[in-house]
Amino acid sequence: MVKARRSFFTSRLNRKICKSVVISGVFLYIVYMFLSSKSSNPKWRMIPDFTVNISTTTNISHLFFGIAGASNTWSKKKLYVETWWRPNVTRGLVFMDKSPVQNLPWPLSMYPPFRVSEDNSRYREYNKHAMPFVIRVARVIEETFKTDHDGGVIRWYVMADDDTVFFIDNLVEVLSKYDHRKYFYIGMRSESIVSNSLNSFEMAFGGGGYALSYPLAKAVAQNMDLCIKRYPTVFGSDQLLQSCIADLGVSLTQEKGFHQIDFHRDISGFLSAHPQSPLVSLHHFDAVDPIFPSMNRIESVNHLMKAAAVDQSRLLQQTICYYNKNNWTFSVSWGYSVQIYEDIFPPSYLYRPLETFIPWKKGANPPYMFNTRPLPTDPCDAPHFFFFSSVDENRVMNHIVTTYKRGSPRWLPACVSNASRSADHISKIRLLSPLMNRGWQDGDRRECCDVVHLVGMDSLAVKLRDCMNDEIVA
Ligand SMILES: *[C@@H]1O[C@H](CO)[C@@H](O)[C@H](O)[C@H]1NC(C)=O
Ligand SMILES: *[C@@H]1O[C@H](CO)[C@@H](O)[C@H](O)[C@H]1NC(C)=O
Ligand SMILES: *[C@@H]1O[C@H](CO)[C@@H](O)[C@H](O)[C@H]1NC(C)=O
Ligand SMILES: *[C@@H]1O[C@H](CO)[C@@H](O)[C@H](O)[C@H]1NC(C)=O
Ligand SMILES: *[C@@H]1O[C@H](CO)[C@@H](O)[C@H](O)[C@H]1NC(C)=O
Repeated sequence: MVKARRSFFTSRLNRKICKSVVISGVFLYIVYMFLSSKSSNPKWRMIPDFTVNISTTTNISHLFFGIAGASNTWSKKKLYVETWWRPNVTRGLVFMDKSPVQNLPWPLSMYPPFRVSEDNSRYREYNKHAMPFVIRVARVIEETFKTDHDGGVIRWYVMADDDTVFFIDNLVEVLSKYDHRKYFYIGMRSESIVSNSLNSFEMAFGGGGYALSYPLAKAVAQNMDLCIKRYPTVFGSDQLLQSCIADLGVSLTQEKGFHQIDFHRDISGFLSAHPQSPLVSLHHFDAVDPIFPSMNRIESVNHLMKAAAVDQSRLLQQTICYYNKNNWTFSVSWGYSVQIYEDIFPPSYLYRPLETFIPWKKGANPPYMFNTRPLPTDPCDAPHFFFFSSVDENRVMNHIVTTYKRGSPRWLPACVSNASRSADHISKIRLLSPLMNRGWQDGDRRECCDVVHLVGMDSLAVKLRDCMNDEIVA
């Protein structure tokens, strides 16, 4: 009994054990000190990412773009790349199926450098995909990762098509929310139920672009060969990649600002009711009408970029307010459009896009992943549509002034008989927004607005501001 109560340390055997524990502890400590002194030497850094100071926010130099292009369409698609690419600032590569001979020389002052994709003939027996170029495009991430990228500086690999248009500041803003040292696959599904169902509802669409954090890109690149062999029949490159990523135990993080734009015709209704999220990308401009009236497609994109250059964080953000005197509702999509309705509609209704567009592919009813409003024919329900025309940064008044002009007459009868209550004579709207860039914080509300005054007969001013505590937009 007494013996059994003797403490651990008093037993001779245990004293011996203790001694050896202490000795091996000292030994491990010495090894640890040796290794940690070595690890401050760059040559000893096995995984450079662990030394990254997480508190340095992600900026544009931490992103690397891998763009899937094709030599026969480049002369057309390069015009879209030019709208967003910032020479000497953005880093990345365009991958071509073959040398784009007719586009040489290739000015690096305008585009990313190109690479011709590696020969994929060794995968011939695994290529039973619906499209012939699936393997080449899926391997863009692998080939991008394998290129030299300044030893550990890159945090995000951003994959895109040659007709993807990015809003870079917003892309950086969105990615900087996430820890690039973890496994992230960030993008968005298609707006079209049929597109998602053909591919996957859990997949980021490459046209909208998507980002892989460094460790995920590395794991995907290292396992690409196996993955191609495992999925010889999936529909497209994005689905092949999503399958590889799923096999690594990583699922899609959806960010609402990436847009595949699986629509046809007029997408003004969609662009006038953007979700409350930074606009990150747009795509498929060649599949839809020019987004501004009386401009061609490229001119339209460059026109939107004028607003983006002044305040990207507000771009397409929707704000609703009322002009009670006339019973009017205003719906603003910053830098793109203003709609005036000659009746009162609640925000919950106006946040649904007007269905100005048609489905990408028929086959699902409803066809879209979101609610829409049918195009009204009643003059009191149909909006007066004004499109972004110019931007002026007025630092004196501490406001940015964007101006919107009527696209075309409505070709509808007046809603009200009293002419001074009718919006038919309004041709121009000036929107004042506080100069400071709002930035984006999760949990922020949309901004509020006031209709300030009528300016002369044909124009009026609307002013954006922060909503007051507990303010209800009604
Ligand atoms: C990380 O960065 C912050 C801000 O730049 C700095 O204050 C801090 O000292 C850095 N920490 C390390 C360990 O380098
Ligand atoms: C981005 O941040 C890094 C530090 O992580 C810094 O060295 C670099 O100059 C920054 N680049 C830009 C364009 O701000
Ligand atoms: C890009 O950088 C190079 C070298 O740093 C310089 O010669 C060139 O003029 C720069 N180009 C642009 C478009 O800024
Ligand atoms: C404003 O609209 C409401 C509801 O649509 C209607 O009841 C009211 O009569 C209208 N007021 C005026 C002044 O037109
Ligand atoms: C027409 O509307 C204006 C502005 O709301 C109002 O001042 C005026 O009295 C109205 N006229 C008639 C005839 O109702």
